[in-house]
Amino acid sequence: MSESISITDNRTGESIEIPIHRNGVDSAEWSKLLPGIWFDDASFGNTSGAHSAVTELDGSAGFLRYRGYPIEQLGKECSFLEVAYLLLNGELPTREQLASWEDEIREESTIHENFHKRILEGFRDDAHAMGVLVSTVAALSTFFPESKDVEDPSVRRKQIVRLIAKMPTLAASAYRRSVGTPYVLPDPDLDYTDNFLSMMFRPGDSEYEVDPVLRRALDLLFVLHADHSQNCSTTAGRVVGSSLADPYLTVSAACSALSGPLHGGANESVIRMLEEIGSYDQIDSFINAVKAGERRLMGFGHRVYKNYDPRARIVKDTAHEVFDVVGKNPLLDMALKLEEVALADDYFVSRKLYPNVDFYSGLTYQAMGFPVEMFTVLFAIGRTPGWLAHWDEMLSQDSRIARPRQIYIGSPERDVQPIDKR
Ligand code: ACO
Repeated sequence: MSESISITDNRTGESIEIPIHRNGVDSAEWSKLLPGIWFDDASFGNTSGAHSAVTELDGSAGFLRYRGYPIEQLGKECSFLEVAYLLLNGELPTREQLASWEDEIREESTIHENFHKRILEGFRDDAHAMGVLVSTVAALSTFFPESKDVEDPSVRRKQIVRLIAKMPTLAASAYRRSVGTPYVLPDPDLDYTDNFLSMMFRPGDSEYEVDPVLRRALDLLFVLHADHSQNCSTTAGRVVGSSLADPYLTVSAACSALSGPLHGGANESVIRMLEEIGSYDQIDSFINAVKAGERRLMGFGHRVYKNYDPRARIVKDTAHEVFDVVGKNPLLDMALKLEEVALADDYFVSRKLYPNVDFYSGLTYQAMGFPVEMFTVLFAIGRTPGWLAHWDEMLSQDSRIARPRQIYIGSPERDVQPIDKR
């Protein structure tokens, strides 16, 4: 059987055969037969926007692999920085490569003192941490003007290190500002995740001992969030990056996309939803409201996964390890009950709606002491290597500026009337 499709334009009787290559058909071939006829696919649900070697996921089989390695194995064997190295370089590091990668990141973890003295101080006291993160990541662009030379791979590599290194410092500083406690600077003696926890929670100059179970759980959560192919925020970053915008503005755009409740903001929305439901006896009426289309079950459903999200399974296990140390999140039982009810209900079964990564991650972050407004910021720290791997991959390929077409549905040509005659 031929690996191709044939299309006939019934207006003219002309036909064209297009090869199927790696599950794709070349739209340029399609346009040879049908110039000016566009794929009508506003949410890109059926459109491939990239040739990528970074992450493979299969929503029906329910697997996720970074550079070919199953997420379950990476979660068990590797630290977040090992996984970041893998995403960016295509191979896992040796011990020596990892040590020098960690050193590079450590050396770039500080931020200019203007962030603490001026920029962060300019926000309202109740400013949401994601808005602060988006703005401060964009502000990095003004501190590193040399980053604009994005076609030079060595310039790109330098900014990749800076962004991965500075994200936790910006995030923890945003938190410290919001609670009004003094900023804690990066500690060169600590590793990436310990350092972030120390910048977040160390009380002033006092000693701060990071619990190894919590540290490992957070590092694992970063690994699970590190990449997810052409998701909304990665696509936003690619679209912005395709104009050759600098990486800080590109990652800031990706962060903006992540903030929405249908994407990374869902981890925050899940907690707010569970709090609003309030008690077991309200679960049925909430589920009925979801089925009636009045509400959405946050943390459920996914564009690609039509099976249990493999990350959700790992997060659920990790949540229990964290609860063993800090005590159970009181919202856990409600979440478990909600999952049980939903997975037994035909509305969710027939639509293949399962918990996604965000259903249990918020409960875990909350038990670890992170305020709800920080949840999506934690997601952003984890996703930064993924965004950058896709940005770097795109710019090292023969890429063009992203520029979709549209199906115009507005008025045909008409004449402008002078204002008094309208
Ligand atoms: N609650 C209730 N119904 C849902 C949900 C949900 N969470 N998700 C999908 N559906 C319904 C849709 O209404 C639709 O019903 P219909 O066929 O009767 O019209 C059907 O299931 C199919 O869903 P789609 O609309 O095709 O889903 P889509 O791929 O467009 O959206 C999304 C995916 C945005 C993730 C959606 O499932 C959702 O809103 N989930 C809640 C928010 C969330 O958890 N987001 C995090 C996603 S993971 C991540 O980004 C990290």
